[in-house]
Amino acid sequence: MFPEHRPRRLRRNETIRRMVRETHLRVDDLVYPIFVKESSSLKEPIEAMPGQFRHSPDQLPALARKISSQRIPAVLLFGIPRMKDPTGTSAHHKDGVVQQAVRRIKDAAPELLVMTDVCLCEYTDHGHCGILDDKGEVSNDDTLEVLATVALSHARAGADIIAPSDMMDGRVGVIREELDENGFEHVPILSYAVKYCSSFYGPFREAAGSAPSFGDRKGYQMDPANVREALREAAYDIEEGADMIMVKPALPYLDVIRVCADEFDVPLAAYQVSGEYAMIKAAAERGWMNEDACVLESVTAIRRAGADMIITYFAPRLAEILA
Ligand code: PBG
Repeated sequence: MFPEHRPRRLRRNETIRRMVRETHLRVDDLVYPIFVKESSSLKEPIEAMPGQFRHSPDQLPALARKISSQRIPAVLLFGIPRMKDPTGTSAHHKDGVVQQAVRRIKDAAPELLVMTDVCLCEYTDHGHCGILDDKGEVSNDDTLEVLATVALSHARAGADIIAPSDMMDGRVGVIREELDENGFEHVPILSYAVKYCSSFYGPFREAAGSAPSFGDRKGYQMDPANVREALREAAYDIEEGADMIMVKPALPYLDVIRVCADEFDVPLAAYQVSGEYAMIKAAAERGWMNEDACVLESVTAIRRAGADMIITYFAPRLAEILA
């Protein structure tokens, strides 16, 4: 009664499948996140992220050359400082851990783009992304100035792209102004515009020692139940001067990636976060899933949803698979 559907014939032959495939992964779209710890000769495994390490700055030239030789275009740096205090001052030291790391990488592999995460949670002793008022609550407006100082110190160290992840309102505008006033008009901002308050950041907080010592981040990160709010957040950031925006996490928020891709014409990044990495690793270790197949499938799905760029701890492995 039903005629055989013609499209099904297109699935029978691998060559045809390749021809009609709608989504392609390219190494050019990948960004590799790196944890840098203030220390020396250190390559310390991160327990909740098998295969990922905390590196001291002196380890980065070799790593940067390896990443660059795989033709991965960019890395994203997170710093783990020796000293933490209430206002996160070590985040903007001239010789802070990220500033050292940027210089080491740019010396060793100038072609590799260096993005830096701008946030205070790794640098404050209370672990919040901003500084606190007398009542112990994050003070949005007092934090803005510190963030701008951090961003400027990263740019001075040679960062190619500044990526604020703190989620304070108004930070993109303040950072843009600070960069412009100091001769860094050419440095783009990749805003973590749509950052959910997600439990999938668990392994990252172990990796960076940045779990809040009290409370949570619900006051400044987004409610996972919301999608219209994502459009508002992204629109504000673009208006303030964001050159690119990000949705984070990725796989549980494919619908959010899709609406942002449809709505905005700035390049869109998606962050496959630590928990997404850990899930695949843990299941693969137990023999419950095929790691490479799941990596390819999940990253393809993120790309299909509309991400132009994907930030993923699997970047080096993906580059091997794709080669
Ligand atoms: C800093 C920051 C976090 C992540 C990126 N930047 C942690 C957080 O917000 O708690 C998470 C990245 C990951 O899980 O891989 N604020």
